[in-house]
Amino acid sequence: MSLPTRVQLIDVGPRDGLQNEKQPVPAAVKIALVQRLQDAGLKEIEVTSFVSPKWVPQMGDNAEVMAGITRQAGVSYSVLVPNLKGWEAAQASKPDEIVVFGAASELFSQKNINCSIAESIERFAPVVEAARAAGIRVRGAMSCTVGCPYEGEVAPERVGMLARLMKDIGVQRVDVADTIGVGTPLKVQRAIEATLAHFDINEVSGHFHDTYGQALVNTYAALEMGVWNFQSSVAGLGGCPYAKGATGNVATEDVVYLLQGLGIETGIALDKLVDAGQYISDFLQRKPNSRVATALLNKRS
Ligand code: HMG
Ligand code: MG
Repeated sequence: MSLPTRVQLIDVGPRDGLQNEKQPVPAAVKIALVQRLQDAGLKEIEVTSFVSPKWVPQMGDNAEVMAGITRQAGVSYSVLVPNLKGWEAAQASKPDEIVVFGAASELFSQKNINCSIAESIERFAPVVEAARAAGIRVRGAMSCTVGCPYEGEVAPERVGMLARLMKDIGVQRVDVADTIGVGTPLKVQRAIEATLAHFDINEVSGHFHDTYGQALVNTYAALEMGVWNFQSSVAGLGGCPYAKGATGNVATEDVVYLLQGLGIETGIALDKLVDAGQYISDFLQRKPNSRVATALLNKRS
């Protein structure tokens, strides 16, 4: 068994993390968070989403946030886009990558984006085509690849089916997401295996929520398969408004600590990352949801 020597992390804190916050987070705070993440060495940041502000009010300042960030060469800024209306708005903000987001579960698709899986693919197809014609990369998030809050267990075949549909419309890489954090290593590996029937290992990333405390071990299970792209949230922020009870993504601090211990290169400075997590946690008036950040902050004081 050989683990990857380098891992690329996408911090999804500003988007997946903050989308679920009830209290308003001003655009200036989101912009400052993005700045701190890039200062810490993150090379990919999921900044916001161009969805309906009626559905997800917290992301209603998408254009303002995108206009306010100071872009750094070599950093990729991505945004979620559910349909052509979202694409038209997102395009003006010049993201480096857009993310269409579907689900391996019918009921989650309905609850999250108000359409069936088949309809979602029909909506995504012209978005993917337009983005690629404009030279913007396209990622596909695949929700509920191991479990669904409405349907329970999700079979790997359903993940394979969604991956194939995403591939067919021109999506360039995909996230295998455990939306509600119920996965354990074997289940996550089966979902990844099903995805690998349609995408190369370099085009597959892990997106693990940590509801049941399994996200780090699931990350390790994915590393064992050669996956080297992962999404995580600084300070363990997050959750999906349409996945009640699901907690945030695995904390970026925890993943970086794990990877450092394994001798895997990330290009991220852990101390600066902890600062970024503390910044947003202070704003939200709570402690970072990261064991590593907590330990390092205790050590500092
Ligand atoms: P809909 O109501 O079916 O859309 O929503 P519609 O086309 O019928 O339009 C209804 C209204 O929404 C219209 O406005 C449209 O203009 C407007 P009205 O005429 O009533 O004033 N509208 C939009 N406004 C702004 N931007 C848009 C847009 N589209 C329509 N893009 C829609 C369909 C997808 C828009 C809606 O269901 C939605 O916004 N859902 C939000 C889903 C979401 O953001 N979920 C969280 C992110 S996914 C996630 O967290 C999972 C992930 O992390 C991976 C994992 O962990 O699993 C990625
Ligand atoms: Mg998520």
